[in-house]
Amino acid sequence: MELPFAESWKIKMVEPIRKSTREEREQWLKDADYNVFGLRSEHVYIDCLTDSGTGAMSDRQWAAMMTGDESYAGARSFYELKDTIKRITGFDYVLPTHQGRAAENVLFSFLVKEGDIVPGNSHFDTTKGHIESRKAFAIDCTVDEAKNTQLEVPFKGNVDLNKLEEVLKKDADKVPFIIVTITNNTAGGQPVSMENLRGVRKIADKYGKRVIFDSARFAENAYFIKMREPEFKDKTIKEICREMFSYADGMTMSSKKDGLVNMGGFIATKWEDIYEGAKLFLIPFEGFLTYGGMNGRDMAALAVGLDENTEFDMLQTRIKQVEYLAKKLDEYGIPYQRPVGGHALFIDADKVLDRIPKEEFPAQRLTIELYLEAGVRGCEIGYLLADRDPVTRENRFGGNDFLRLCICRRTYTDNHMDVIAAALKNVYDRRHEITRGVEIVWEAPLMRHFTVKLKPLG
Ligand code: F0G
Repeated sequence: MELPFAESWKIKMVEPIRKSTREEREQWLKDADYNVFGLRSEHVYIDCLTDSGTGAMSDRQWAAMMTGDESYAGARSFYELKDTIKRITGFDYVLPTHQGRAAENVLFSFLVKEGDIVPGNSHFDTTKGHIESRKAFAIDCTVDEAKNTQLEVPFKGNVDLNKLEEVLKKDADKVPFIIVTITNNTAGGQPVSMENLRGVRKIADKYGKRVIFDSARFAENAYFIKMREPEFKDKTIKEICREMFSYADGMTMSSKKDGLVNMGGFIATKWEDIYEGAKLFLIPFEGFLTYGGMNGRDMAALAVGLDENTEFDMLQTRIKQVEYLAKKLDEYGIPYQRPVGGHALFIDADKVLDRIPKEEFPAQRLTIELYLEAGVRGCEIGYLLADRDPVTRENRFGGNDFLRLCICRRTYTDNHMDVIAAALKNVYDRRHEITRGVEIVWEAPLMRHFTVKLKPLG
């Protein structure tokens, strides 16, 4: 008999979690203004809000924490981290930051000016925020296939090279760099192929532009390249990473995802001028060059995390769990962005709650229903997150409206996946009774989804 697949780790430490009643959850959600970001974590049974900073560290990482060098300048832990980043990406220059958006803030302070245009594939909201707050424009050049959730194509995160070239043909002088997000979070944790990265590089070279990777989930991207692009089936994840990054001039990183740590980020680049320019903003915004926003011990744990998460077994365990949940949803007929991506399931709320008009934010209603059903916290990656158009101030209804269920790294078991799937099925079975969505009571001018206050309709 063939042995079944099992995790490439065993559990050494656990944290209790608690169930609640529907009545309790109704009150808690009301107190949170129907925004799940306002819930206390102890009021959540299974937390799928994000895979960011929520994973479990390994024994090797915890051991590395004890060896952290907390020197203000020249910390050994910084050099350990820098050497690991160089080995994985090939980049010589590294600036540590406290998380991914801080890396964006520092780098874009140097690179982005008012009136600039930054094309890319579904900029993440903080990335878009850091562009738009500088009165520059983020132009989404993602392939159209990403919008059709039921279409099975292997690299739905790709940049549409024609769209990219159109932007450059028209406005090359306004483009400081191209940004490629690997994997493409907003489109559903969808990967970008090596072929596409090569194509972006070619266009960038033609117009003399630089390419920055938003690399939060670069290791998962490498896994998909290995599994789906035949040329890479015999390559190691580390070899694939080296080639991916060879097509970039630099990267921003949220280490909270594929760095396997709870907090941290960095900028890395092969260019001295980028390093020198960004450095001037790192010191006032984050901290001195050899710690930026990080403790020495956290840099030590990150060096180990980056190394562990660029190994095949680790990535296979992770992605197989996400696929396990996706298979359950297939059984129940619940529509999600296909094929399932790296870090999460993106439930197609427009299709599930098809009686709710766009203006009433169907994905937010689905998020609320799932929490009330079982204490499972997902989050809306849809019309609320899309914010308003900076010029017209109109809501942006052009993209997808998803309920995202993130799977934390090394945190939950497949039994938890079964609970999530059953809770979703229960909501799905009564979808036709849910005809109204939510109304905005208060919203921030930028990145509103974190703090928006809502009122359920009907
Ligand atoms: N880029 C991508 C693709 C991201 O997914 C995130 C964060 C960031 C940048 C910003 O990094 O949080 O360390 O400042 N994504 C989290 C999420 C918050 O839930 O998807 P950060």
